Amino acid sequence: MLTTQRILLLLLPLIAGSLLRPRTKHTFGTALAGHKERTLLLTAHPDDETFFFSPTLTALSYSSMHGLGDIFVVSLSTGNAKGLGDARREEFGRALEIFGIREERRSILDHPYLQDNKTSAWDPAVIAEEIHPLVVEHNITTILTFDSHGITGHPNHRSALAGAVHLISSTLLLSPSTVCPRLFTLYSRPSTKHLGPLAAFVAPGYISSPGPVFVASLVDYVTALRAMSKHPSQLRLIPFMKGLFSRYLWVNEWVEVTM
Ligand SMILES: *[C@@H]1O[C@H](CO)[C@@H](O)[C@H](O)[C@H]1NC(C)=O
Ligand SMILES: *[C@@H]1O[C@H](CO)[C@@H](O)[C@H](O)[C@H]1NC(C)=O
Repeated sequence: MLTTQRILLLLLPLIAGSLLRPRTKHTFGTALAGHKERTLLLTAHPDDETFFFSPTLTALSYSSMHGLGDIFVVSLSTGNAKGLGDARREEFGRALEIFGIREERRSILDHPYLQDNKTSAWDPAVIAEEIHPLVVEHNITTILTFDSHGITGHPNHRSALAGAVHLISSTLLLSPSTVCPRLFTLYSRPSTKHLGPLAAFVAPGYISSPGPVFVASLVDYVTALRAMSKHPSQLRLIPFMKGLFSRYLWVNEWVEVTM
């Protein structure tokens, strides 16, 4: 059992660490000369953006407010596995408001082939087709998504990566006026039974290399907690406690995938 003391002991190094290591990264460095970096964060369910990508969202939102870039967030489903899709759609909007990401910078798909499901993967071709117009319309230079382990191993998370890979390697982006975005994946810390997640990347077809690391400041962490509170449908006690101590609220390590 976690006693209050232990909880404090766990929390203190994190807080101290984040105060000592203020955020240094604000972009992925993918902008071409004279242009802004335009980033698309591709998630699977409303709440992924908050639980896993907060340090990056606070940083990119800061950079967007200072005219250094733009950030768009897309959730590939409404998270309707338990019939809560409508509520979760609202929560997604409220949480992203906390990060300063306005309505025109976020969207949520509700495609019949991309429904929230713990046991089935999504067709990468459908994902690629769905996000292609967004990538072109917003002239996206960076796509961010899960890695091949998808943090929790959820097949929908892993599908987001497969969809992004499909988009970049398919002919969809072949028009000469379109920039081919660079793809970065959120490094999943090895959980006990998994092989080094990087090993999974050395799969046929693409390679990966370490990229930027985003570290939350204490203020960023509080922003993330406020965003978490906008997802009441997902805040049952145990997941909430797990979420509170999640390293993904503090650090996002990105790995670039090149094809
Ligand atoms: C898209 O962005 C790239 C690089 O940031 C730039 O070279 C290109 O002109 C932009 N295209 C449009 C249509 O805005
Ligand atoms: C998830 O997909 C499986 C098939 O892989 C299906 O049997 C099941 O009904 C789906 N669950 C939901 C909630 O749609």
